[in-house]
Amino acid sequence: MDVYGIIGNPVEHSLSPPMHQAAFDELGIDATFVTFEAEEDRIEDAFRGAEALGIDGLTVTLPFKHDAFEFVEPTKSVRRVGAVNTIDFTDDGPVGYNTDMTGTLSAFEHHDVALDGTSAVVVGAGGAARALAFGFEEAGADVAVVNRTESKAHDLADEVPRASGHGLDELPDLMADADVVANATSVGLESDESVAPADAWHGDCVAFDAVYKPLETRFLADAAAAGAQTIDGAWMLLFQGVDAFEMWTGEDAPVDVMNEALRSHL
Ligand code: ATR
Repeated sequence: MDVYGIIGNPVEHSLSPPMHQAAFDELGIDATFVTFEAEEDRIEDAFRGAEALGIDGLTVTLPFKHDAFEFVEPTKSVRRVGAVNTIDFTDDGPVGYNTDMTGTLSAFEHHDVALDGTSAVVVGAGGAARALAFGFEEAGADVAVVNRTESKAHDLADEVPRASGHGLDELPDLMADADVVANATSVGLESDESVAPADAWHGDCVAFDAVYKPLETRFLADAAAAGAQTIDGAWMLLFQGVDAFEMWTGEDAPVDVMNEALRSHL
């Protein structure tokens, strides 16, 4: 039996196990997907141990996405974002991917939203914002990074080609001209707040929220009320898993089955 897992701390409420297990079961792959709650001061031992034990693949979540960088052969997505969320243990050693970035692009594709030539606004400058900003840029968008702490927006924008950095006060003006507006802050997580003013939305844009608890955040509800298309955060979670699954198994992922398994746990 093949063994896959998610490594993080905490991981007990992770939605990756039901999502991946449903996919393995659907395709008749003899594999199990488990949680590994590692201690921060022993994370290197944990990665080496996983390799030594012959574990086939890992999803890496907080707080280990940076630690994992030291341990893998980084792919392009990892070198750009500077974080690893998927490890494939190959015969040539562990290879690291950032499917938070590639999965977000898959989620947009799934919704028939083309990013090439668009103006995208990413609100936030943390880990999620990095994945979105590099992803949107790679897909051909011009990216405006907006953050409460404006200096962090400039720091991130300096790393991303064709990107600019801004403070939150500029968000309404940037939204007026945007084709895509993405929330990569924690605002709205289990609260009825939005980082974007409700009256700044217009119908000619796509709203994406990396927050998936609740699924319909205030950010997305305001966007929908203005007539905008919305993509909720579970799509990012789904497609980072889809991309990882396909990397690990070489099979086409059963996307609908994974989506159903994921949403039934939300
Ligand atoms: P992650 O790695 O999940 O992206 P993070 O690194 O903690 O999380 O980043 C959280 C983001 O949410 C940051 O951009 C943060 O802004 P600051 O850099 O100014 O801290 C943003 N954020 C958190 N609470 C916020 C709030 N109340 N209003 C606006 N932005 C907020």
